[in-house]
Amino acid sequence: MSVHISAKKGEIADTILLPGDPLRAKYIAETFLEDVVQYNEVRNMFGYTGTYKGKRISVQGTGMGVPSIAIYVTELMQEYDVQKLIRVGTCGAIQKDVKVRDVIIGQSASTDSSLNKVLLNDLAYAPTADFDLLYKAYEAGKAAGLNLRVGNIFTADLFYNDEADYKKWADYGILAVEMESAALYTLAAKFNRQALSILTVSDHILTGEATSSEERQTTFNDMIVVALEAAIQ
Ligand code: HPA
Repeated sequence: MSVHISAKKGEIADTILLPGDPLRAKYIAETFLEDVVQYNEVRNMFGYTGTYKGKRISVQGTGMGVPSIAIYVTELMQEYDVQKLIRVGTCGAIQKDVKVRDVIIGQSASTDSSLNKVLLNDLAYAPTADFDLLYKAYEAGKAAGLNLRVGNIFTADLFYNDEADYKKWADYGILAVEMESAALYTLAAKFNRQALSILTVSDHILTGEATSSEERQTTFNDMIVVALEAAIQ
């Protein structure tokens, strides 16, 4: 076991889905996987391993924000040798032509987190998704008829931030804001692993538009299928 995950070696698959919310991890395991075994309940940050279309897949809650996801993905890669990591989450749109219920694939993740500066001695590093996973998710999303967008997302340290200049970020092409992907991409690069973030747009930061919980669930399910298809190909 590692500090925050009680699984024994071998109990976690080499490919993993990473929702922020541990109850989403439970939902994904119960709804989409077969032969499920729960491997973690430390801090109620649930983790499960099962199969999807015969392939072994795990799903692990990460919590919210860079420090929390950094803990889980580091332990997953370092202690459990996980190779492919796919975040499945939500984001707030900041472009006028990005709508709630769209699905965004994060090609790169800009950030105001200090993580990259700390790790790379102040370098303005560009955290980037794995192209192979991105391509597979894009193809699966297109085949499923989703409204897909691919591009630069912003990993914010603060959910509540009066000072944030969302319009400025939008002017530089940022599609949407979330709180974890830059850490996932940077750490996956450090460990030479494959990582991708797939996000449903749950709210529009500029227009205030939001999805109903029923709509959120439907889009979320569509996104999970895309993530699983990308994971097993
Ligand atoms: N900000 C940060 N993260 C988010 C948001 C947001 O508005 N919506 C969903 N995740």
